This record gives sequence, structure tokens and C-alpha cells, in this order.
Amino acid sequence: MTDSSSHGIVDPRNRHRLQGSPHRLPLTLKHSVLGRVVGGTYRINSKIATGGMSTVYLARHVHTGELVALKILRQDVAAALRLGDRLLIEMQAYQLIDHPAIVKTHSMGTLEDGRMFLAMEFVNGPSLRRLIKEKTSIPLDLAFHILEDVARGLHAAHKRGVFHRDLKPANILLPQTLRGQPTSEVAAKIVDFGLARIANTPRITATDQVMGTPQYVSPEQAAGKPFDHRVDIYALGVMMYEIFAGTQPFRGNNPKELLRKHVLMSPVPMRKLPKAARLPRKLNKLVMKCLEKHPGDRPQEMGEILDVIRKIRLKTKVA
Ligand SMILES: Nc1ncnc2c1ncn2[C@@H]1O[C@H](COP(=O)(O)OP(=O)(O)O)[C@@H](O)[C@H]1O
Ligand SMILES: [Mg+2]
Repeated sequence: MTDSSSHGIVDPRNRHRLQGSPHRLPLTLKHSVLGRVVGGTYRINSKIATGGMSTVYLARHVHTGELVALKILRQDVAAALRLGDRLLIEMQAYQLIDHPAIVKTHSMGTLEDGRMFLAMEFVNGPSLRRLIKEKTSIPLDLAFHILEDVARGLHAAHKRGVFHRDLKPANILLPQTLRGQPTSEVAAKIVDFGLARIANTPRITATDQVMGTPQYVSPEQAAGKPFDHRVDIYALGVMMYEIFAGTQPFRGNNPKELLRKHVLMSPVPMRKLPKAARLPRKLNKLVMKCLEKHPGDRPQEMGEILDVIRKIRLKTKVA
């Protein structure tokens, strides 16, 4: 096994060579970290997933044996988008929030090639995206539990002045098996605060210019207007629509078309879609209210959403 002292992967002076297609990493980078010890602390076991901006690995603390998820920014994307400080902001955001529905972070460190890594709690379970893809419909009780946890976690984040800005099913992890057996006190954990904005901090980075994923972007962000925590309320609305109706409110052939629709087009009421036709009216009302174009017409706080979901869950007696 190699340790971190031989972990000289890329000469920082040659970094410009890494800018290019985000999908074509040089081979030296692609397979280089597996089996290595980084930061003198974590031995990297295997790759968990590749996100839009980073790769996440399963690693083990060399002394305590604890499993962690290690997030490393993809150098090609970071360089192209000038997102060098993205992980720092992510760490700051996590440290402001302490909530069981938000993944915990342990530490940050640097690889020998200068790339930063973020070590965090490993969530053992599929993402909500996978659950949506693999199940024709998610059992209503599980859907409510997931949504309540997401709303609780975001409520805690918003209270600390942190808004996520990239809320989507791929960033919700479910500490449970696909059959729904829980392995944790919560049904959902939110990850990826890499685009988070922290209130009352200077707008420092190129990260602020980057929008979240087009399918979940609020009309105000899509239109380049000022925005606040209510972008997360809109994104939660898109997610709920997707969970209950089995389709997203807007589809487009390209990001530009999608953004235009978020700004200008009214979504089809959820209850008009076959899968959602028999759901409680109040649920339809809540989802459609979250999808309002003007932030002031949406529920104003995550706590409000949480209350409504709780009431619907108790009334439909699926708890
Ligand atoms: N703490 C974690 N435990 C387990 N898997 C994780 C964890 N954090 C992220 N992942 C997996 O890695 C993927 C990418 O991580 P993410 O933080 O979303 O990176 P990106 O900013 O590139 O989207 C996630 O969609 C998820 O599948
Ligand atoms: Mg992500």
C-alpha cells in the first residue's frame, strides 16, 4: 500500500492540462487515489459516486477504523469554473448546522497535488434519486418521512442563515435499504452544501454565480434576480411533485428551455396527473404553493411545510 508521502499525482504547475472535458480525466488522476492514505488519516477504499463537481470515496480512518465519505473536488471542473474554495464554503455551511438530517463533517485536508478533501459521515443507503428511479411509486409513509426529515434539516439550516441552493433527489441520501428498513434515526440526510450560500457573508466566489440543477432552479434564480432561502422551498416543491406525480413539473430539451419554463410557464396542477389524482387535496395544494413563481406566494418557512406534511400524514393514517 502506498501512503500519502508518495502521493504526488499532479504537478500543480501543470494544472492547466487538467482543464478540459469534465468527463475525460487524465488516467493518472482517474485511478490514483484508491488504496492511498490521504492527510495521513484516511485510507481510500473505493469510489462511492461521482457528482457534477466532485468524486466521493469510501475511506477508513487508519487509527479508529471509522468509515467516512471523502469528497474530492474534480480538478478539471474546479479549474474550469474557478471553484477552488467550494469545499471550504461547504465545510463552513456544515459547521453552522448540527442536525440529524444533515450529514456531519469530520475534517478537511489537502492531497499532495493540492486538491482539497472533505471527510464526512458515511451514509449507507441509496439516494432519493435512485429510489425514484427504481420504484414505480414510493410508499406514501416513506415519502412523508423522507420529506419531513428534509424539511426539518433545511429548517435548521435556514435558521442558521444557510441555504442549500442545490436541493434535488441526488443530494438526499436515505440511510436505509431500498426495501425501506431504516438504519438510522432519520429517513433522509441532506448532502452537498457545495453551492450553499451563507447569509451575511461577503459574496466571495465564483460559486455564487453557479446555478443549481436546471430541473430544480427557482424562477428568481433562473431570471438572475436576488434570491434567498425560498429557493430551497421551490426546489422542495419540484421534488415533491416528482415523488408524488412520478414526473417533474417541467421538461426541456436543454437547460435554457428549462429555465425559461421555470420563469414563465405554469406547471400542470399535480392532481391532474394520474399518479397523484387520489392523493389528499391538501398535499396537492402544498406542492403547488411551493412552486409559485413569486417567493412571497410560497410557504415562507420550511417549518410551515413541515406542519402541513405532518398533519396530512396523521390524517391519512399512514404513520
Ligand atoms: N456522506 C456521504 N455518504 C455517502 N455517499 C455520499 C456522501 N456524500 C455524497 N455521497 C454520494 O456522492 C454523490 C456526489 O456527492 P455530492 O456532495 O453531491 O457532490 P457534487 O457536488 O459533485 O454533486 C452524491 O450524490 C452521493 O451519491
Ligand atoms: Mg451533488
